[in-house]
Amino acid sequence: MKGVMLVGGEGTRLRPLTCNIPKPMVPIANRPFLEVMIGQLKAHGIDEIILCMGYLPDKIRSYFGDGREFGVRLTYVVEASPLGTSGAVKNVEQLLDDTCFIFNADIITDLDLTAMLRSHRERGAKVTIALTPVEDPTSYGVVETAADGRVRRFIEKPAPGEATTNLINAGTYVLEPEVLSLVPPGVFHMFERGLFPDLLQRGDPMFGYPSRCYWIDIGTPQRYLTVHRDLLGGQVAMALPGAKLGDGIWAEEGVRIDPTAQITGPVVLGRGCVIGGQARVTGPTVLGANCEVGAEATVEGAVVWRNARIGQRVVIRSSAVGEGVCLAEGAWLTGGVVVGDGACIGADNRLEHGARIWPGKTLEPGTLTF
Ligand code: GTP
Repeated sequence: MKGVMLVGGEGTRLRPLTCNIPKPMVPIANRPFLEVMIGQLKAHGIDEIILCMGYLPDKIRSYFGDGREFGVRLTYVVEASPLGTSGAVKNVEQLLDDTCFIFNADIITDLDLTAMLRSHRERGAKVTIALTPVEDPTSYGVVETAADGRVRRFIEKPAPGEATTNLINAGTYVLEPEVLSLVPPGVFHMFERGLFPDLLQRGDPMFGYPSRCYWIDIGTPQRYLTVHRDLLGGQVAMALPGAKLGDGIWAEEGVRIDPTAQITGPVVLGRGCVIGGQARVTGPTVLGANCEVGAEATVEGAVVWRNARIGQRVVIRSSAVGEGVCLAEGAWLTGGVVVGDGACIGADNRLEHGARIWPGKTLEPGTLTF
């Protein structure tokens, strides 16, 4: 079965983590998000995957190659300029000959794709849209359906009280390729504001597929941290990398932990991590490969990408740290701070309140204190 993945977006809301890599390559517990997703698709028999690309396509292509190593066949199509969601699928129309799945590639979910496909076929739908309930639908695309599941109305970012449901478009669709004849070629075009309203107007059979599965989009730093909290907390059925060292502690090969360090799960320690004396690493935390945590440092509720150097007495809480970042002695990161790849935070800086440091930046010692 074929699946089309939309991987062309710039991931602007997740910057600076997406300055050097596209959102689908952002690591989830030390594996690129897309690798996690490909594994899930394969489990549901989707083994021919077309990637609609735009932003930094080579970062994806060089990692996955033809897909064989990951048990799937990958086809890459790069857009000269962004075509939007339905525009991107129109662009690969010639590769689609049968019912297929379309995926936004920034969602972690355990949606039952097999059951969704069955429902699509049983109802004779042209399009089936996965729906998920959210507490506050005002920043999403709400989809109202009739009792039989047929889509009745789309409301983009409804005002409070405007929508009669909290079910939103979950970014996964089953599609009959013939509907792409309604999409103009070579222009920017979106499912939510273009193709779906057109289908609704024509009265074509378009159904919602609501489910209470786990669902989150990883599109902002805050949600990126939440995904890790949920994943390490066991709310998502996904294997964690490495061997289980103890209660909630997963370590890949070559990890060295000083006997006086205190590790409190759930924690994932990437290959070759070194944890210094009296350091405290507290879950939910993920350290990428070859991270060094200095003596008496505290890392808690954090996601740290590979090759980070965390100095003595550094504190990282509820924050995300990019690849090869250097945090000098006594630096302090709390409250949703995001540090881009290769940045250097000098000693005794205090970063708080969601501060974002761009890749490669250097903060001289003691520049920021509160
Ligand atoms: P933001 O810039 O933070 O909004 O992120 P984004 O544009 O990367 O993601 P958004 O949530 O807006 O888009 C949903 C999905 O569609 C993501 O998987 C994007 O990669 C993808 N996408 C968005 N625009 C395009 C496009 O023009 N072409 C392709 N091929 N994919 C797109």
